[in-house]
Amino acid sequence: MTESLLHIAALDVHYGAIQAVKSVDLRVEAGEHVTLIGSNGAGKTSTLKALTGLIPASAGNIRFDGHSLMGLAAHERTALGLVMVPEGRGVFARMSVLENLQAGAYLRRDMAAINDEIEQILDWFPHLKRRLQQPAGLMSGGEQQMLALGRALLSRPRLLILDEPSMGLAPVMVEKIFEVISEVCRTGMTLLLVEQNARIALKVTERAYVMDSGRISLTGASSTLINDSQVRTAYLGE
Ligand SMILES: Nc1ncnc2c1ncn2[C@@H]1O[C@H](COP(=O)(O)OP(=O)(O)O)[C@@H](O)[C@H]1O
Ligand SMILES: [Mg+2]
Repeated sequence: MTESLLHIAALDVHYGAIQAVKSVDLRVEAGEHVTLIGSNGAGKTSTLKALTGLIPASAGNIRFDGHSLMGLAAHERTALGLVMVPEGRGVFARMSVLENLQAGAYLRRDMAAINDEIEQILDWFPHLKRRLQQPAGLMSGGEQQMLALGRALLSRPRLLILDEPSMGLAPVMVEKIFEVISEVCRTGMTLLLVEQNARIALKVTERAYVMDSGRISLTGASSTLINDSQVRTAYLGE
């Protein structure tokens, strides 16, 4: 069997005596679009933070593109191409929208390609075009989420990791952002999407994991899970 692009195995995460992640196994193949859904407090963000090196794993193993990530700092994992848009986005509030986008490309030297990609992002998100020279912190939550996604794309991720891009946004903004996420998926990007909004997450991905109280309780094709009675009751509000 060939190795997955990402392979998380038997991952545990603790906060002191509290165990937030319990023996999680999760794989993402190159080019796949995978979602991790679950209620608030299920352990989704903790899984992503351990993956990106923001918090330590207390047990388990994480391999990415043939390397073990254990012992690598967060910036070393970013350099390998693991790029996360965190919960609550985290744009540079006092920098302009354009400077935020350029910051995403800081490790690159291919100026012509960078400018083309900025143009593409501004075509996707005309909201940002009108605010290029304004401080990012003055924009709405939805616009900041767009900017955070654009900035992440400019770093040319090998695995794009999104933590609840829909959180706190009006339905029309969620729709706009997910249209672009779908476009990005069609470009061949590999995606790991964490969402509480299971309905939209299952629509834009091919495969899903359901997390409940720190454990993976269910996994399968997104198109199967969207019709699963347990999933419909627990996560789709039906
Ligand atoms: N910094 C922290 N210190 C202590 N407990 C935490 C911390 N962050 C998260 N937790 C706890 O870990 C559990 C999982 O949280 P989290 O990973 O944020 O879940 P989700 O992203 O699925 O909402 C929750 O019970 C939460 O209260
Ligand atoms: Mg979370």
